[in-house]
Amino acid sequence: MTAILGIETSCDETAAAIVIDGCNVKSNIVSSQIAQHAPYGGVVPELAAREHLSAISHVVREALNTAGLSLKEIDAVSVTHLPGLLPALLVGLNFAKGLSVSHELPLIGINHFAAHIYGSFLDIGTTILQNDDTYPLLALVVSGGHTGLLLISADGKTELVGTTLDDASGEALDKAAKLLDLGYPGGPVIEKTALQGNPDAFSFPRSMTGATGKKVAEENRFNFSFSGVKTSLLYHCKNHGSEGKLSGKLLFNTVASYQEAIIDVLCRKTLDAVTHFNAASLVLCGGVACNTVLRTRLEELLPSTVQYFPAPRKYCTDNAAMVAGLAWHAFKKRQFNDLGLDAVSRLPKMTTILFR
Ligand code: KG4
Ligand code: ZN
Repeated sequence: MTAILGIETSCDETAAAIVIDGCNVKSNIVSSQIAQHAPYGGVVPELAAREHLSAISHVVREALNTAGLSLKEIDAVSVTHLPGLLPALLVGLNFAKGLSVSHELPLIGINHFAAHIYGSFLDIGTTILQNDDTYPLLALVVSGGHTGLLLISADGKTELVGTTLDDASGEALDKAAKLLDLGYPGGPVIEKTALQGNPDAFSFPRSMTGATGKKVAEENRFNFSFSGVKTSLLYHCKNHGSEGKLSGKLLFNTVASYQEAIIDVLCRKTLDAVTHFNAASLVLCGGVACNTVLRTRLEELLPSTVQYFPAPRKYCTDNAAMVAGLAWHAFKKRQFNDLGLDAVSRLPKMTTILFR
């Protein structure tokens, strides 16, 4: 039995978790900073770092207490070290290094993007990931910081086959909510507001899908772009609202149509990639994967031969269980890091994945 402590501070959640043998989640503590960032309509990196600093020791202690374990019973400490906001990442990374040194624990640096994918398997077990029939596995990772399609082959070869050329899908939702004065984070409030509107009321652009009859360049077939839909919303508000402000039915229809445009693009690109790469399974993960319309739309459109693994909602938004779970695969391979482990803001080129 291997107990791994996971630490996550890449954005605006301070999180710690204890996971046994890759999928038995003993504790999963998340301290959110939403209230602190809400007045700014987005995450302020330095503020995030300060908040992580004041929360991290309590969050780690709570994760240990809830699991009923002491640090002496932990086999390794894992931490998100990329990608993310640098000042925020550094807090978790340095805390993990301190624990590693003081308690002589192996240190495991984890890729947050890969951890989101792993979150889909935490509750259902890792045997699916060892089964060759699960591959090729395509993962749609949709969060505030990323929107990408990662393809994993049975031999472990991994490739980011699509990514956003500008804003992430979650960012497009957060920025729209800010523009419409709906609050932060945008995803949940947009989903709720959209329920009262008609998603076909307005036609917002679906960039790089060929929806307007314009041919999509082959290199952008699986890439995303959400800056156009955001700009279109800005002009829509100027043209329709009084002094740019929308309310009532107009607001509801606008929000529903805007959400629909983003979900439509995500679904079209993903289903095209599923067919093109002959995927045997599809993972949906990241904060935007909490959205019910997106979850059910993909399920409805996905061919019945393709296995569907939407991450449980509690593992969609940032958490440390996905970090500690994935770290078990590094532990098994004795892939440990030394104290030179660095924090990196960008997603590196991914060619392999820990769980294969
Ligand atoms: O994965 P996450 O917690 O953080 C990053 O790694 O970025 O994702 C946060 C993003 C935010 O943009 C938030 O607006 C979005 O997830 N989100 C949602 C929903 N809940 C959170 N987007 C759409 N619908 C939701 N219900
Ligand atoms: Zn995330």
